[in-house]
Amino acid sequence: MTDLGKQWADGYDIEEYSIGDKKIVFTPQQKRFVNSKARFSLIYGGFGSGKTTILFIKMILQSLCYPDNYILLGRKHVSTIEALLPDLFGLLLKKWYHYHVKQGIIEFFNGSKILLYGLDSLQDGNMSDIKKAQQKIKGLNLSAYYIDQLEEIEFGVFEALNARLRRKSMPYRQGNMNTNPANFWAYDYFMANPAKGTEAIKCSMLDNPELPQDYIDEQLSKDKRYVQRYVYGNWTPNILTDKCVFAEEHLDKFKALEPEKEEGCEIFEQPEPNRKYRMGVDPSEGIVDPSSISVVSEDGHKIAKFNGKIPIHALGAKVKFLYYKYNEPLIIPEANAAGQALLLQIRDLKVFERKIQDEKYDKDTRKQGWKMSWSSKKALIEHFQQLLSKGFPKIYDKKTINEFKTFIWTDSAKQKGAGAQRNFHDDDVISTLLAYWELSPDSQKKRDIKYYKNTQAALKNKYVMQYI
Ligand SMILES: Nc1ncnc2c1ncn2[C@@H]1O[C@H](COP(=O)(O)OP(=O)(O)OP(=O)(O)O)[C@@H](O)[C@H]1O
Ligand SMILES: [Mg+2]
Repeated sequence: MTDLGKQWADGYDIEEYSIGDKKIVFTPQQKRFVNSKARFSLIYGGFGSGKTTILFIKMILQSLCYPDNYILLGRKHVSTIEALLPDLFGLLLKKWYHYHVKQGIIEFFNGSKILLYGLDSLQDGNMSDIKKAQQKIKGLNLSAYYIDQLEEIEFGVFEALNARLRRKSMPYRQGNMNTNPANFWAYDYFMANPAKGTEAIKCSMLDNPELPQDYIDEQLSKDKRYVQRYVYGNWTPNILTDKCVFAEEHLDKFKALEPEKEEGCEIFEQPEPNRKYRMGVDPSEGIVDPSSISVVSEDGHKIAKFNGKIPIHALGAKVKFLYYKYNEPLIIPEANAAGQALLLQIRDLKVFERKIQDEKYDKDTRKQGWKMSWSSKKALIEHFQQLLSKGFPKIYDKKTINEFKTFIWTDSAKQKGAGAQRNFHDDDVISTLLAYWELSPDSQKKRDIKYYKNTQAALKNKYVMQYI
């Protein structure tokens, strides 16, 4: 096998894989992937197109051809790797390896090792757990890593693994991975703006000679978008807008402008003396997520904003700065944990109050701040959708516009039905939606009419006074 390893590294192409009486002849796409020496090699495409199979075969070949190799096999959860082990072991001869269950290591007769790793420990949970997992990764010296279902893995984890690729047991070092077409960072990294060292190989369900025809016929009869994506494996930008909450046709009308900067805030329009404003705030502890403030004018322009990772007392100062600058607008802060701390600082300002039904005393009480729940989030979204369809909101800041485009419907309980696409933020969207709450083209009209009536009355009085 070491001879094969040398030839392979020198450009010999492997075309099939046999063990026992089993022989897998690679499809042209699988062949390209197996033989790719690109630093970051990705095979993407439709369901059942042989992505996992070829990932495993390449990993086995690298383990067998290069003694003392050390390779990491990662999926989001370690339990999902375990579920794939029968497929993996089906591609190995029993006498080749020993599986150390407790350590999660498959050790080969030639000293090569495959470490099974649940990558979620690096991206989910609290900060201290993530730090611990990062520390563990830092102790590794890898020649290659393999990721099945890259769409579940965050960019930061991918970067952390790349930093471990420094073991010399193989003539080259590699990250090998697969994905179904999905809206996540790798679209940009491998497709839209391919980074240095990347190679993306597309495969289709129809490439796999093993799939039964009735299954393929059934798959082909599904809706067009599904077929494009999950049968043919097309990874195109329309997928990126699949589940967007806000229609792109409206978002495309927003034109980004360069702001002025004041006290770290972005200012697009200076305040006008008689104009009314509103302010939405999405507060955060400032460690993981940024906090966001949006100020909108009653004629629907988002004219100022702040976004940054700062402690709550500093956020309070930003809110106050914008509050006094923009004629003391109504503040609508989200009353999450960080929001409670913010409310302590701004409770004497004009703050939105929500109604709470007090069943005990059968009456409504009021509390400061916006409580985000599935239903209140839905109401916020529906209100803003209506405004959008009337062309009322005008948003000038680039980051908010981009966040709107990646704000999607989700099933995640944490996101209460809608939120940012993984690896994207939604704090600017939330503060914007809050700022526009109860604002409509009519609210300004009503004020204009009132103003007109008042001035008419004043003129009349003046006239009467003069007359007298
Ligand atoms: N070149 C091949 N020749 C014969 N059978 C193959 C070949 N490649 C894959 N298969 C078989 O096709 C089936 C589907 O392959 P696999 O699970 O690798 O697809 P996948 O792209 O990972 O699917 P999914 O998108 O569902 O994760 C498996 O049973 C596998 O053994
Ligand atoms: Mg698979």
